[in-house]
Amino acid sequence: MTESTPDLPVSVSAASGAIADSDESNNTDGANESVITTRDLSVFYGSYQAVRNVDMDFGKNRITAMIGPSGCGKSTVLRCFNRMNDLIAGARVEGTITYHGQDVYADDVDTIEVRRRVGMVFQKPNPFPKSIYDNIAYGPRVNGWKVDSMDDVVEEALTRAALWDEVKDKLKESALALSGGQQQRLCIARCIAVQPDVILMDEPCASLDPIATSKIEDLMRELAGDYTIIIVTHNMQQAARVSDRTAFFTADVDDHGVRHGRLVEMDKTKTIFTNPSDPRTEGYISGRFG
Ligand SMILES: Nc1ncnc2c1ncn2[C@@H]1O[C@H](COP(=O)(O)OP(=O)(O)OP(=O)(O)O)[C@@H](O)[C@H]1O
Ligand SMILES: [Mg+2]
Repeated sequence: MTESTPDLPVSVSAASGAIADSDESNNTDGANESVITTRDLSVFYGSYQAVRNVDMDFGKNRITAMIGPSGCGKSTVLRCFNRMNDLIAGARVEGTITYHGQDVYADDVDTIEVRRRVGMVFQKPNPFPKSIYDNIAYGPRVNGWKVDSMDDVVEEALTRAALWDEVKDKLKESALALSGGQQQRLCIARCIAVQPDVILMDEPCASLDPIATSKIEDLMRELAGDYTIIIVTHNMQQAARVSDRTAFFTADVDDHGVRHGRLVEMDKTKTIFTNPSDPRTEGYISGRFG
């Protein structure tokens, strides 16, 4: 379902088609093609620098978990990947973020298209106050896509989000009548319906019970075959269960007592959880601080 030509609709730059450096850093993902890359990424809210100098690579069809204490900038960094920070007054990004080698922050990038390719699922399920069917059909309709059968589009998205069997007999009922876990899978289906290739998830299970959480985790593993997934989570077991790679963030306090988020290390999830390079990672995952 994912399109084979992921170029953003920009005037093609020299960066087009570039593949991330495979340097020695653990941030990179070996031979695996990088879908999103950040270099020297800093994010400001007004004069406050929330995140400093982050270098990351997110490999194709990988699930990467971003973990770290509250306020260390996980959501801030995640929102950069599809320019959601543009919607926050005073937010400013320095450094580079590329999507398949193209600068996400280039002046001529179509942000609507970026957000279609790089979809987002939020902490609190946010279905539209419409029917289940119309939630899924919404994206293809506003994009003006001519589809042979909207019914098929809706069925496929709901099937891929492991929700079809539970809702197929009540497609015209309000999405708001679904349980929280079903609403979250609906939001994932709504995201899938516009054919993204990256799915960003900011604490997608924070409001769900363990059974609904487990369903979302199973779904993530299935979706990783077709999508690149980046998940922020406070649940360490969840990061260990679902992700291939884990990035640990923390906040440093500067000479003026101001906290700035930074990436401490990023590596294979097993390495982060069993043999991290930095003592701060070890301290956080073992619950000693953070
Ligand atoms: N819209 C905003 N305006 C100003 N400052 C903000 C804004 N959003 C976040 N910040 C600040 O940026 C820093 C990073 O916040 P962010 O929400 O990215 O952290 P987080 O790691 O996602 O935390 P949590 O785990 O609690 O969700 C914090 O100091 C926060 O107060
Ligand atoms: Mg957050």
